[in-house]
Amino acid sequence: MAQPLTIEDLRILAKRRVPRMFYDYADSGAWTEGTYRANETDFQAIKLRQRVAVDMTNRTLASTMVGQPVAMPVALAPTGLTGMQHADGEIHAARAADKAGVPFTLSTMSICSLEDIANHVGKPFWFQLYVMKDRDFIARLIERAKKAGVTALVLTLDLQILGQRHKDIRNGLSAPPKPTLANLINLATKPRWCLGMLDTPRRSFGNIVGHAKGVGDLSSLSSWTAEQFDPALSWDDVKWIKDLWGGKLIIKGILDPEDAEKAAQSGADALIVSNHGGRQLDGALSSIAALPAIVDQVGGRIEVLFDGGIRSGQDVIKALALGAHGTFIGRAFLYGLGAMGEKGVTACLDIIRKELDITMALCGLRDVRDVDGRILVDGNRQRRA
Ligand code: GLV
Repeated sequence: MAQPLTIEDLRILAKRRVPRMFYDYADSGAWTEGTYRANETDFQAIKLRQRVAVDMTNRTLASTMVGQPVAMPVALAPTGLTGMQHADGEIHAARAADKAGVPFTLSTMSICSLEDIANHVGKPFWFQLYVMKDRDFIARLIERAKKAGVTALVLTLDLQILGQRHKDIRNGLSAPPKPTLANLINLATKPRWCLGMLDTPRRSFGNIVGHAKGVGDLSSLSSWTAEQFDPALSWDDVKWIKDLWGGKLIIKGILDPEDAEKAAQSGADALIVSNHGGRQLDGALSSIAALPAIVDQVGGRIEVLFDGGIRSGQDVIKALALGAHGTFIGRAFLYGLGAMGEKGVTACLDIIRKELDITMALCGLRDVRDVDGRILVDGNRQRRA
């Protein structure tokens, strides 16, 4: 493919290069995938106001997320099995994020470990935490995150039970893939991926293997989450984690104003409006549809961040206009990673930066921190919707 110009270009290339089970793992939602699709399509109904003859010189996208400077308000979201989209995927993505001046968030369910990122990237990063029944393991994981130089903890609250993604069951998703005939035939068509994997020791869940006791078949995500994740997780546990961590805390997975209120009262620094990329409760609102009511409920009391469906810089600016202080991209960077490794993540961030910058200028603004509902056609009605 010639130079990729859109996130869709990267997706098409990733689909060609990444083994089917891992491409499908990223590109799927729960059950009917209705919420997954709505995350993207609901952005299209939001219309921008074109302004003319306004000074467009000296534009800036620089902002902050949880008080930390960012070159643009776009962080890499925590995504499971990132190191299966491309060998050493988390290291490549963290390097690209660092070069672009945006935060990288390592998932608990990553292939590369906290220590791998600390040793091979050596720059501050964020860490996403799932709460498991084994609280000693969680306490140790938090200690490891502190030692690795993590500067914000992202606590996910919407995945104590795994939503069903049909493709993962049909593909027999596991990390590493099992040597079945179907897998071997598919892998034979992905030589770059195979060569990369042969060259790295990192092929299973790096944060868990050798650290958690009594874990059964770790390669199967669904049985492992069912065994280990704590379905009794409560706001008391959030407090326990907040005290144990003691640093910047971001609560991920808020879709309802009542939960947003609890998040604000928890003393966390930020919340992320998210439906886990449509991978958990199918039939829930899209993230962008849920955002305005949450901003109305808690805006000004806790930083509201946004995740879900962003495939362009235009989507970023729409989320900011509806009250998000910053945004996360998940699949968009995974497609870049699967397509071209670190270079692909850099390409993804470049595409988004350029789209965000030009859109901001054509809406008549020069500073991303000035973006608000005024750039939207009927911005106030959007906020109340
Ligand atoms: C894990 O975070 C998943 O959505 O699969």
